[in-house]
Amino acid sequence: MIKETFNPNPELAANAAIKNMDEYWALQNKALEDYEGFWKEYADEKIDWLAPYDQVLDESDAPFYKWFINGKLNVSNQCIDRHLADKADKTAILFEGDRGDVEQITYAQLSLRVNRMANLLRNEFGVGKGDRVVLYMPMIPEAAYAMLACARIGAIHSIVFGGFSTEALKDRIEDAEAKLVITADGAYRKGKPYMLKQVVDDALSQGGKSVEAVLVVKRNNEEINWIEGRDHDYNELITSQHAECPFELMDSEDPLFLLYTSGSTGKPKGVQHASAGYILWAQMTMEWVFDLKEDDVYWCTADIGWITGHTYIVYGPLAAGTTTLMFEGVPTYPDAGRAWKMVQDHKINQFYTAPTAIRVLHKMGEHEPEKYDLSSLKVLGTVGEPIDPPAWKWYYETVGNSKCAIVDTWWQTETGGHMISPLPGATPIRPGCATFALPGIIAEVIDPDGTSKKVGETGLLCITRPWPSMIRNIWGDPERYKKAYFGDAVKDGKPVYFSGDGAVVDEDGYITITGRVDDVINVSGHRMGTAEIEAAVKKDDSVAEVAVVGRPHEIKGESIFIYIVLKEGHINKDIKNHINALLAAEIGNIAKADHIIEVPGLPKTRSGKIMRRILRSIAKHEEITQDISTLEDPSIVKEIETKAREA
Ligand code: WTA
Repeated sequence: MIKETFNPNPELAANAAIKNMDEYWALQNKALEDYEGFWKEYADEKIDWLAPYDQVLDESDAPFYKWFINGKLNVSNQCIDRHLADKADKTAILFEGDRGDVEQITYAQLSLRVNRMANLLRNEFGVGKGDRVVLYMPMIPEAAYAMLACARIGAIHSIVFGGFSTEALKDRIEDAEAKLVITADGAYRKGKPYMLKQVVDDALSQGGKSVEAVLVVKRNNEEINWIEGRDHDYNELITSQHAECPFELMDSEDPLFLLYTSGSTGKPKGVQHASAGYILWAQMTMEWVFDLKEDDVYWCTADIGWITGHTYIVYGPLAAGTTTLMFEGVPTYPDAGRAWKMVQDHKINQFYTAPTAIRVLHKMGEHEPEKYDLSSLKVLGTVGEPIDPPAWKWYYETVGNSKCAIVDTWWQTETGGHMISPLPGATPIRPGCATFALPGIIAEVIDPDGTSKKVGETGLLCITRPWPSMIRNIWGDPERYKKAYFGDAVKDGKPVYFSGDGAVVDEDGYITITGRVDDVINVSGHRMGTAEIEAAVKKDDSVAEVAVVGRPHEIKGESIFIYIVLKEGHINKDIKNHINALLAAEIGNIAKADHIIEVPGLPKTRSGKIMRRILRSIAKHEEITQDISTLEDPSIVKEIETKAREA
């Protein structure tokens, strides 16, 4: 079968960091021949070491891998101070507000603001090395200052996405035992103010006893509740802070941040990242995958509450010394041309977004990109979920004018940075395909026993060697870390990292991601565990049993489909609104289901296991091909099908 393939734009390839596939394979072979040597070369070149490391990789306590042993650095130095000699007046953060207000923050200004904020945290709130700080912030520059201020004084930040509910915020504050919460009164979205601080107030009224103070940035100046003694006004306090804050000498392996993410079982996990390996790979992938050049202006539309916002709005771009655009609003407000107008106004060179956003922009304004001058664009990225070929094609042809590279980047909260992605100057790209593992990353599609899958066969997508930016632990739960990531596949007798995704390799070696093979669903690029949603639904008194599955959705990729069995004697007329209100309160609006149906029972094996595959097929209105004769009550399937058809 001949596959549609698009070669790199020769102009872009001529000056690219990696210019062709020969260069790519040369790098990848170098990594395979001398893995530690490969990483040493980049660590020495890219990181501003404050004390040298004495060993590249320590595998003695696998899977608790350690990188750049005994090295000392500070990530805020890597992102700010070291650029001041030659980039003080260069724009570091280019901020555009929802209402079109623009602010340029140079590296010198960023330095001043981060130093002041670091002093504020250290001196007013006694935050020190190893303390946890929770950020519940809108997309405003102060969120980036807070991250970098934490990094400067060695505090560990844990950002909670602003769409999460009171309950979700409280759980994360408690799990991390945070000392301080940084938030804002609110911000603006679609031309109107929205509020955030109330969620923090509610979370802290229900728990989070470790929190000693709340620092509040005033963004929209709407009226907020204020608790004297606990709440502190950032805008008032910051001006009197000293302009210099000496940074903490951090060990390579000192945690940089926690970020909670969903797994297939239990509560969200606090993914713990380390300092040196993370920042090294954040910077390297910025340079390789986005092919950054000195004067580029780069825009990633993610929210800082997700890993993409961490690595590819703040840490990666600033470590690489580029100009990163931070946007408060949504790309479709006031109209479907907003994003393209911003690309034109700011002469954006690299644009990075999620397939859901591409599908929405496509649907709302197919010809909108043609109205703007998008000639500055060189690289278009996508992340977070599989991209379907029609969305890919529109992105390539209409947005990129068939001259930009599309980098379909596969990675995860746990991987810290890109793992599998085209290289803009080298890789012949194909719609919907993440292509090849980046140099230094050993990705394999295997069976649980380590046998390589044959061409065209779907298997487990594993990273079979440790890499610098990998997750180090699950906060407070090392056993869960081992089980969740190193419990499913073994290669050459050693447990290897399993991503939770399936993938398939074709005859040319191209890797295509087929999606999660575990009980995690991906709605608009947001990862959610079915177990987490089920636990929330079970909190309702009328619910006897619940099963949650994903259903393909034209725009969102997947939507949530819930089957509920009510307790005897319970009737629930408005079950959908009722359960969705519960999900919004327990998790957040992102967890609301498109379909919630009441069924008389769930399809179970005789041993009581719920047959989710059947429920997935029913949600998709697919023919049931599985053998249902082994079910405890095969007749239930017909009844559920009838209910689902009515939904
Ligand atoms: C999915 C986001 C297909 C995948 C950076 C993964 C993708 C999960 C892609 C991680 C892609 C991410 N193609 N699927 N290019 N990128 N995914 O932790 O299922 O929020 O496991 O990190 O998103 O989501 P997370």
